[in-house]
Amino acid sequence: MNHFQYKQGQLWAENVPLVEIAQSVGTPVYVYSAATFTRHFNAFTNASAGMDHLIAYSVKANSNLAILTLLAKLGAGADVVSGGELERALRAGIAPDKIVFSGVGKSKDEMRAALACNQGGGIYQFNVESVSELIALSEVATDMGTTAPVALRINPDVNAGGHEKISTGNAENKFGIDITLARAAYAKIRELPSLKVTGVDMHIGSQINTLAPFEKAMDKILDLVKVLRTDGHTVKNYDVGGGLGICYDEDTDKPPLPADYGDMVKRKTKGHDLKIIFEPGRAIAGNAGILLSKVRYIKSGGARNFLILDAAMNDLIRPALYGANHVIEPVRKKSETSEIIAYDVVGPVCETGDTFTKMREMPKMQEGDLVAIRSAGAYGAVQSSEYNTRPQVPEVLVSGDQYAVIRKRPSIQDILDREDVPNWI
Ligand code: LLP
Repeated sequence: MNHFQYKQGQLWAENVPLVEIAQSVGTPVYVYSAATFTRHFNAFTNASAGMDHLIAYSVKANSNLAILTLLAKLGAGADVVSGGELERALRAGIAPDKIVFSGVGKSKDEMRAALACNQGGGIYQFNVESVSELIALSEVATDMGTTAPVALRINPDVNAGGHEKISTGNAENKFGIDITLARAAYAKIRELPSLKVTGVDMHIGSQINTLAPFEKAMDKILDLVKVLRTDGHTVKNYDVGGGLGICYDEDTDKPPLPADYGDMVKRKTKGHDLKIIFEPGRAIAGNAGILLSKVRYIKSGGARNFLILDAAMNDLIRPALYGANHVIEPVRKKSETSEIIAYDVVGPVCETGDTFTKMREMPKMQEGDLVAIRSAGAYGAVQSSEYNTRPQVPEVLVSGDQYAVIRKRPSIQDILDREDVPNWI
């Protein structure tokens, strides 16, 4: 359930009609609902009840400072993958001892920043993905006279299904340490100075719509935990990553609820004396945001009916990149008797891939109508660009009957001011 609902024939974000935001901020614009973020975060908290746990929100899904501040106040930790995300999490007030640092290629500067924060106490855990990275982290920590808490990200070699570009748990993916090499990698931690083992980590993919791949991966990792403990390592934390799918389209997606997922994790890990770290991103942010756009032109009469929006692939790249299906709805509800037309909904960018959907049956639209592109709160704004020199799309946060711009739309001047023409041209 989310707080983008029709009332009085119009789509609202909580108690604000979307048409009001379109008028005051302009389109295209991302609109988020604070109540939906809160609801989704609390669903994870409830799902984890009875487990020693940490919910480290995956910052990459939606990293706006206002969103992170909202989640920090709800008690969220953070899963970060760069020095930039670390800085965002800290500025938003997320406690450093609730921050885990993931990612396949951390730089030494990023490691240094993560060890230096918290007045030198550093972050909660580094999820390390290779022996080379272990060596680098050991060098940085030794140099700083501190100890780095380490979990190794293990690649359990399971197929999580879903789109190949967001599947991460197969042996041929670049992520994690091959499970067959895990024992040797943990032995290496013991040899290196200034590192201490805190646990084990996995992340098998994203938009996973069944529990089976998680269960399979957990069985393998829990077996490994036993072996590692026999080898004498102190394995306290089990970071199970993110990846829980969301409903993009009620007709096709039936993902497990956070409660089902939590029950499964609880059942699997019962009696193992582990603290569970969750890294949900999409499950918290996805349905807490929409992309609000206006129909600029309608082109019909040829092979297709094109609805040409003012939003484009640079604002929301998921359909172009992964063939993702986002439901698109008119903001002003059309009458039940409206003619139904199959539209190709496209943007103004000069690429055929700038297509949000093809042959989508919708009530007959007019130029100037507003549309909501649903489920755009995760991996939407964060993946936007200025391709075609289109100013990066702004973001608005709604809470009850109030709303605020939480990222401004830059002017063309702002964009050009970042560039320089050397005087030798
Ligand atoms: N933890 C790690 C280490 C990750 O790499 C990710 C996502 C997450 C947690 C959060 O996963 P989630 O709960 O959101 O599934 N841009 C793609 C998704 C890429 C996901 C990358 N990693 C998309 O738009 O579908």
